[in-house]
Amino acid sequence: MNSLTTNLHTLLAAFYTPTQDRHKILIESKAFPSDHYAVESQIRWHQRDPKDSLICQEPRQGETLLRTEDILETIEKHGHEISVVCFSGVQFYTGQYFEMEKITKAAQAKGCIVGWDLAHAAGNVPVQLHDWNVDFACWCSYKYLNSGPGGIAGIFVHERHATNFDRNRLAGWWGHDKATRFDMVNEFKPMAGAAGFQHSNQSVLTTSALLGSLSVFEKTTMKDMRAKSLLLTGYLYHLLTTEFSTDVLEIITPTDPEQRGAQLSLVFKRGKMMDIFEGLAKRAIIGDERKPDVIRIAPTPLYTRFEDVRRFVVDLKELVNEFY
Ligand SMILES: Cc1ncc(COP(=O)(O)O)c(C=O)c1O
Repeated sequence: MNSLTTNLHTLLAAFYTPTQDRHKILIESKAFPSDHYAVESQIRWHQRDPKDSLICQEPRQGETLLRTEDILETIEKHGHEISVVCFSGVQFYTGQYFEMEKITKAAQAKGCIVGWDLAHAAGNVPVQLHDWNVDFACWCSYKYLNSGPGGIAGIFVHERHATNFDRNRLAGWWGHDKATRFDMVNEFKPMAGAAGFQHSNQSVLTTSALLGSLSVFEKTTMKDMRAKSLLLTGYLYHLLTTEFSTDVLEIITPTDPEQRGAQLSLVFKRGKMMDIFEGLAKRAIIGDERKPDVIRIAPTPLYTRFEDVRRFVVDLKELVNEFY
C-alpha cells in the first residue's frame, strides 16, 4: 500500500499515542531524512515539541556505527517515557543491520511500541517480524525488491494487534471488510491485520511491477539468497580490504557479516569520491553517492555474480591509479 513515508505516517497515527508521561520517540540520529521529518511532524501533530519528545541515538564520539549496548542503555534509561522506538532494520548510510530482535525485546520490556523501517532490509536480510514480536514495520519495494522508484510499499502489523479495532487509525475504504466494501455503507468495518490499515485503491502499474519482481523471488528463498549474499559481500569486503590502503578508502559498514546486509559503504579519501563515482558510472557500474565522501555498493545476490564483484574491483583499481 502507498509509499514508505505515507505508511510510516499511517502506522504512527495508530501506534504513537503520546501521554503526559510517555510521549517520546526514539530513532537513530542519522535516520533517513524522510523518517526524521515524519517522526518530528507526528510529534508536532500531537501539539508536542520534538525538543522534548524526540530522542536521537547518536554514535559514540569518533564512531559512525551505533553500538547495540548504547541503544539498550538509552532504552533502559528512558524507556518509561518512550512511546515508540523506530529504527531502520538496515541503516541506509552505513549499511548496519541492527540487532532487531534484541532491541525489540528490550524496548517492549519497558512498555514501548517497536516499529521498524525495513526500506533497506526487505529482500536483503532475513527478518522474522512475527517471531521477534515486532509491533509494526514498513518498507518500500524499489530497493532490493526491484519494483522501480515510487513502487508500491508495504506494512506489517503484529497479529496481536490484528483485531484491536479500538486503536484509532486513519481509515479508508480499502481497509474495509472486502465482503461489504462495495455496499457503500458509512460504517467502517476494518479487516483484521495489516489489510485493515489500507486506505485506497492501488495503482495497477505499481502492483504489476512488484508482481514481476516477486515472481523472480519466488524461484528462490531468502535463506538461499542470504547464504549467497554473505559470500558475495564477504568476497567484496575481502578484495577491498586487501587491494586498497586505508589511505584511499575505508569501509564504514560493520566488519561482522551478521551486522550487515549486501551493502558496503565506502569512504573515499582526499576528496576523490565524485571522480571515482563518475568513473564507475562510465564503466556501467552503478553505485550510489552520498556527499561528501561515501559510495554505497550493494552486490545484491539476486542478479550479481562473483565475477561482477571481481570486475568492479579491477575497474576501481584502475580508477584509483588514475585519480590518487
Ligand atoms: C530508509 C528510508 N526511509 C524512507 C524512504 C522514503 O521512501 P518513500 O519515497 O517511498 O516515502 C527511503 C527512500 O529511499 C528510505 O531509504
